[in-house]
Amino acid sequence: MPNVKQAAANTVDTLFPDLKREPNTKAFDRADWGTFKDSLRAPIHRWFTYPAGFSYKAVEEAFRLYNIAPDRTVYDPFAGTGTTNLVAKQYGVHSFGVEAHPFVQFVGQTKLFWEFDLPSLLHAIDSLIEDIYRVTETSDIPAIAVEDLFPELVCKCYSREKLARLYICREMIDALQSAPFKDFAKLGLTNLLRTASDVAAGWPYVAPQKPKSEAKTNGSVDIVKMLRSQLYLMHNDLRVVREAYIPGARTIFIAGDSREYQSCIRSGSVDLAFTSPPYLNNYDYADRTRLETYFWGEAKTWADITERVRNRLMMSATTQINRSDYREASLLNQDFCQTVPQTAAELKPKVAELSERRLNKGGKKSYDIMVAGYFNDMLRVLRETYRVLKSGSAFVLILGDSAPYGVYIPTDEYLCETGKAVGFARYEIETLRTRGGKWKNNPQRHDVALKECILTLYKD
Ligand SMILES: C[S@@+](CC[C@H](N)C(=O)[O-])C[C@H]1O[C@@H](n2cnc3c(N)ncnc32)[C@H](O)[C@@H]1O
Repeated sequence: MPNVKQAAANTVDTLFPDLKREPNTKAFDRADWGTFKDSLRAPIHRWFTYPAGFSYKAVEEAFRLYNIAPDRTVYDPFAGTGTTNLVAKQYGVHSFGVEAHPFVQFVGQTKLFWEFDLPSLLHAIDSLIEDIYRVTETSDIPAIAVEDLFPELVCKCYSREKLARLYICREMIDALQSAPFKDFAKLGLTNLLRTASDVAAGWPYVAPQKPKSEAKTNGSVDIVKMLRSQLYLMHNDLRVVREAYIPGARTIFIAGDSREYQSCIRSGSVDLAFTSPPYLNNYDYADRTRLETYFWGEAKTWADITERVRNRLMMSATTQINRSDYREASLLNQDFCQTVPQTAAELKPKVAELSERRLNKGGKKSYDIMVAGYFNDMLRVLRETYRVLKSGSAFVLILGDSAPYGVYIPTDEYLCETGKAVGFARYEIETLRTRGGKWKNNPQRHDVALKECILTLYKD
């Protein structure tokens, strides 16, 4: 009988035979660790394309480096769609994840439920698809008033007929009784929303009005058939992953706020914290899932999304800011200024510079408030993460720096210094890649060279 460490090693090789075991070989394309590229092709990870997600390979590599064997515990304070927790579950490692965006948390939670009886799951998929076909065949599809059922943004993405069919799928899934299967089917249909759309649906930044090229248009696709293929693929992913995983891990995936005290995680109980926090780059996570939340009726307007999603997230986008709630003189709060005085002294003139620069910019974006709020919030996350870590363990973060309105903010250094101020003994910063090149011909953008790094904070 192999010991658990040996079993874990075997699992890595069985699941990912293309990976070499030594770090820094070509097989580990570290430049892509901060992106979702690798995860797009990996079983279960691929159930939802989350552009903010990162590579599962980075988690595997961290597990090797820090000897994370079965029965150890890891924590991801910005768990997103569950990449860290999925890898942990595969290797029999206990894990906690905290994610504040309710829809993204739903995705992660659903990807982490593997305990289906697989033949029954297949049977449930077949009966759902059969039922949907029966209802679509007997419905007067053109008579379904999709304009009254969905916000305009959703209507712009599909032909009336396609949206009516999607609506039938939605209603049939909503009516399902068994919670795990309902979530599974809901995620399956969610995954089709962008691929089945007739317009380029890759916003937040591009409004859904540009039709896809002829070749890419899915005008005539059979939605129910697509749904069946997706659910079959998900079923098969579960089978493949379950054949090779080490059972026994406890996974606790919390819908919560990692700035706050997590009562279910004991102090000094975690062997490794691994995450990719929001970058200081004005990415609006709430807007990214607008199509999905509108489609499922979880929000109908920008204001709904602000109340139900945007306001729950830590500060990282100007769309979260109502300027009249802030005073320019005290954007960095007292807690930050007292805990990290040196970094606060470096940040203050940059924040003031941003308060000035915005006045001469068309968008007048509140980057000053965003930058200060980001560090106020990250201080709390670092403090709470420090609390839950065992001594002798590490907090690893994949993170980019930024330069709003051309004012360079060395996010990596400032966060590491903040980490030291809350108790971490030392840190290392390793560059993964330079980034931002795609904007270089855009006169609206700055030309400051940016990078993506791995930060490692060590707790003695
Ligand atoms: C860079 S993404 C992490 C993605 C994740 N690594 C994955 O592979 O899916 C950062 C995540 O932090 C979440 N977030 C923002 N504020 C948060 C908070 N206060 N507590 C917990 N999660 C938060 C965002 O919703 C987003 O999903």
